[in-house]
Amino acid sequence: MERKKLGNTGVLIPEVGIGTWKMVGNEKNDIEALRYGMSKGMNLIDTAEMYGNEDMVGDAIHGQERPFIATKVSPNNFRYDDVIKACDRSLSKLRVKQIDLYQLHWPNHSIHIKETMQAMEQLVKDGKIKYIGVSNFNLKELKEAQSVMKSSDIVSNQVEYSILVRDVEKDMLDYCTKNKITLIAYSPLARGALFEKKYGKLLELLDNIGKKHSKTASQVALNWLIDKEPVIAIPKASSKRHIDQNAGASGWKLDTKELSAIEDFLLEWAEGP
Ligand SMILES: NC(=O)c1ccc[n+]([C@@H]2O[C@H](COP(=O)([O-])OP(=O)(O)OC[C@H]3O[C@@H](n4cnc5c(N)ncnc54)[C@H](OP(=O)(O)O)[C@@H]3O)[C@@H](O)[C@H]2O)c1
Repeated sequence: MERKKLGNTGVLIPEVGIGTWKMVGNEKNDIEALRYGMSKGMNLIDTAEMYGNEDMVGDAIHGQERPFIATKVSPNNFRYDDVIKACDRSLSKLRVKQIDLYQLHWPNHSIHIKETMQAMEQLVKDGKIKYIGVSNFNLKELKEAQSVMKSSDIVSNQVEYSILVRDVEKDMLDYCTKNKITLIAYSPLARGALFEKKYGKLLELLDNIGKKHSKTASQVALNWLIDKEPVIAIPKASSKRHIDQNAGASGWKLDTKELSAIEDFLLEWAEGP
């Protein structure tokens, strides 16, 4: 598993981590999946207080080599005291002394970002969290959040990004590259939609490109994402087959011709008939 620097820190994180949204209700299976993923080098686990599974993640990582833990505070907890309380709850559920990356899950325009960021910075000072990230922030929101901070930097923005959903390419990808902010691509397999029949032609292309590298279409789709400098991906997978594939999306490179073939296809496709 290749690693990338987290934001402007020297900390190395895997370029493919593990998402946990919807991992609820089958604890034994989920714990097994997370531990198997970690054994394959995907030792970044992304969760959120909203997912209702921090307890399960805590159980999965207990007694294991410590993975990088990313969790999120919900927008309804963005008042100063609520951020602190939410973090304490997450720490207790995850059974860790420090959260590696604490992210604001979505912007909340009804609470001034300064109040929220002050709480986040206090959590860093108190040693309860190591790094601050945001999620689903547009460029204006990201810049505003950074501008009200005094002692820390925003090291990451977690946003939807896949071969099917490329909104971040408008401005966020460039901004993150230039400002050394990690772009954590969520739903990197388009929540599984990529494998629907309607995307057959794209899958065929990815499949053909993959064959030359002995890789699957899903591995090509993930590799296409992490080929971009600031991007890491956090696919969610429950089966060993999927986990193996996702881990194998790292450690090799699509060549320029292959990247162009994908780009040309997507361009033609976006333009329609
Ligand atoms: N910040 C946010 O607002 C936000 C929003 C959405 C998601 N996220 C984060 O991003 C993570 C990933 O996103 P996601 O769960 O929405 O969707 P995703 O990772 O794009 O897709 C997950 C789906 O793809 C399937 N899959 C996984 N690996 C596969 C492979 N190699 N080949 C074929 N299918 C594969 C999974 O099946 P199996 O489970 O059956 O293996 C599952 O059905 C979440 O779990 C969460 O941590 C964050």
